[in-house]
Amino acid sequence: MALAVVTGAGSGIGAAIAHHAAKAGYDVAVWDLDADAASRVAAGIGDNATARQVNIASAESVTQAFDVLPEPPALLVNNAGIVRFGPLLELSEADWRVVLDVNLTGTFLVSREAAARMIAVGGGSIVNISSVNGVSAAPNAGAYTSTKGAINTLTEQMALEWGPLGVRVNAVAPGLIDAGMSEPIYADPQVRSLRQSRVPLGTLGSAEDIAGAVMFLASDTAGYVNGQVLIVDGGLTKSAMLGLARPQSVDSVGVDEDS
Ligand SMILES: NC(=O)c1ccc[n+]([C@@H]2O[C@H](COP(=O)([O-])OP(=O)(O)OC[C@H]3O[C@@H](n4cnc5c(N)ncnc54)[C@H](O)[C@@H]3O)[C@@H](O)[C@H]2O)c1
Repeated sequence: MALAVVTGAGSGIGAAIAHHAAKAGYDVAVWDLDADAASRVAAGIGDNATARQVNIASAESVTQAFDVLPEPPALLVNNAGIVRFGPLLELSEADWRVVLDVNLTGTFLVSREAAARMIAVGGGSIVNISSVNGVSAAPNAGAYTSTKGAINTLTEQMALEWGPLGVRVNAVAPGLIDAGMSEPIYADPQVRSLRQSRVPLGTLGSAEDIAGAVMFLASDTAGYVNGQVLIVDGGLTKSAMLGLARPQSVDSVGVDEDS
């Protein structure tokens, strides 16, 4: 069986991706900074999953984790990520750096190791998890938006460099997802309803919605898709004009072709 590595797979979206990868027939390496969480998810999947504590922001930790894999991964999902909320004027250098270290540098470190191994055996697929905040700024998101925007361009860079060597690289940009790091936000019913009302499909997304998109990009069905960012947000980022008022009296604007 082919091997899939999923980072940050101990909870939320990453755990759903790990389960979907196992259902798709992969052996799954469940990597997370939280060793207990990784073990729980791997145990829930069964014999074809292994758990390991990995800090994606540490080159040493990442290299060690790849060195003990039984084979090069056919699929890597760069899912681990963190957020430190707050306005930029109050953001500490430490918070700025840790978000960049995990989200952006971590994605680079893990991808570099994976791609070298994939290239050595003829290819593979990488899917990066960015965010709608990578295409649209959000209040109090601190360094998070910058890292997610950079992951989108890093996806293009990797696709350009590694595509010719057999490695397809794409990204999934989740919208408002009722899972993982956003669960405390949606526990507030008023916030939940306000946020939902901004989504053209009228609902929050689930971890399953994101896992499905990841598995599509990883699959042979997407064999000619490379360097793309698939926004999975129920239309949220296309909703700037949602609810715009227009006077009843104005039915058309511009030149009347009948006159
Ligand atoms: N939940 C959402 O609404 C949402 C929306 C858009 C994008 N995302 C992205 O989806 C991904 C998963 O988020 P989630 O909501 O499931 O959050 P989560 O907090 O439940 O999961 C993130 C996982 O990453 C792990 N992690 C953190 N730092 C790590 C490190 N240095 N090395 C290895 N693992 C580390 C955590 O232990 C955790 O298990 C993130 O990249 C996040 O930015 C989430």
